Amino acid sequence: MMLQEKMIMYSSKSSKGTLFPLRSMLVFFIALFAFYVCYFSFTQIALENEEEEMNDTEERAKVTCTGPSVIPYEQMRYVHFPRPMSYDRGECACTPVRFFIVVSMQRSGSGWFETLLNSHPNVSSNGEIFSVRDRREDITSILRTLDRLYDLDWRTSAAKNECTAAFGLKWMLNQGLMDYPHDIVQYLNKKGVMVIFLFRRNTLRRLVSVLANEYDRRTKQLNGTHKAHVHSREEAEILARFRPEVEVSSLIPSIRDAEQSVEACLRQFRATRHMILYYEDLIRDDNALSRVQEFLGVPVRRLSSRHVKIHTSPLPNLVGNWEEVRETLAGTEYERFLDE
Ligand SMILES: *[C@@H]1O[C@H](CO)[C@@H](O)[C@H](O)[C@H]1NC(C)=O
Ligand SMILES: *[C@@H]1O[C@H](CO)[C@@H](O)[C@H](O)[C@H]1NC(C)=O
Ligand SMILES: *[C@@H]1O[C@H](CO)[C@@H](O)[C@H](O)[C@H]1NC(C)=O
Repeated sequence: MMLQEKMIMYSSKSSKGTLFPLRSMLVFFIALFAFYVCYFSFTQIALENEEEEMNDTEERAKVTCTGPSVIPYEQMRYVHFPRPMSYDRGECACTPVRFFIVVSMQRSGSGWFETLLNSHPNVSSNGEIFSVRDRREDITSILRTLDRLYDLDWRTSAAKNECTAAFGLKWMLNQGLMDYPHDIVQYLNKKGVMVIFLFRRNTLRRLVSVLANEYDRRTKQLNGTHKAHVHSREEAEILARFRPEVEVSSLIPSIRDAEQSVEACLRQFRATRHMILYYEDLIRDDNALSRVQEFLGVPVRRLSSRHVKIHTSPLPNLVGNWEEVRETLAGTEYERFLDE
């Protein structure tokens, strides 16, 4: 209707004034079309040149990996088709691979979480790569280490096979991560690496676990070996017998420090593609692990771990000086840790 009315208006006003813009519009469209044709053929030529320079293997990978894809557009940056030097990805050469890091703190369940991840046939999480000091000396060595890892040539006990579809590492806040947050975020976004934050809500329980673990490091209660994680009820019971005394004068400052580190981390890494997990939710919520697998783009499976939880009793039974701890936290913002 509207268009017709306009056309009628134009034809009734057959003066030069209306003819001129029509003609220039026509010229403009012809020019645009010509430009489009030229541009298209140039890119075609450029593509052909590029292809000539490619190796046989690369070409094969390229050709077979460009089939119809079900990957949502916003995830394209996080999907990779790496070609490792030390092995052939074989039948899975065109199975997309996601890169990830698990960001956590000591005694927050990340060891257990990683064994769960590694029980998935398509996930390979390669441990605390940055526990080795040389690899985190400066930002250059950090980025070089990450590059080496994500080439998929990095062989650890977590290495799977050619069908790995999610490949990553575990990175603790005190392993250089918080020393160069800006550069690391930039790297992660450029490289297309996703982040899983795994923290523990009850910082008091985490502190108790840290103290108990430090004690076992010194005393090696299990027949002379220190174990940070155990695989049997028996071992867990032996380790849980020790009830650490908590230094109450520094308790609130240490809880606050820990909480501030988590907040700083979440703030500085919020521009990454990420998900936030809490240890407590992992324990209670069966769907938490499905959400992790969906996030990593792998088929959802039942995951399992041989790890046995060490401290299962209520907090009052785990701390030597419980009364003192209770009095210190009662009435503060951290009182909530006492009831869990
Ligand atoms: C490509 O070919 C060159 C020389 O033939 C070889 O050195 C290089 O490793 C090849 N790259 C890949 C990814 O196959
Ligand atoms: C997962 O691994 C299996 C066997 O290793 C493989 O057949 C399958 O294609 C892989 N799936 C994905 C999504 O990578
Ligand atoms: C310690 O060693 C003894 C004897 O070898 C064995 O029976 C026991 O199970 C061991 N305990 C643990 C916690 O490994």
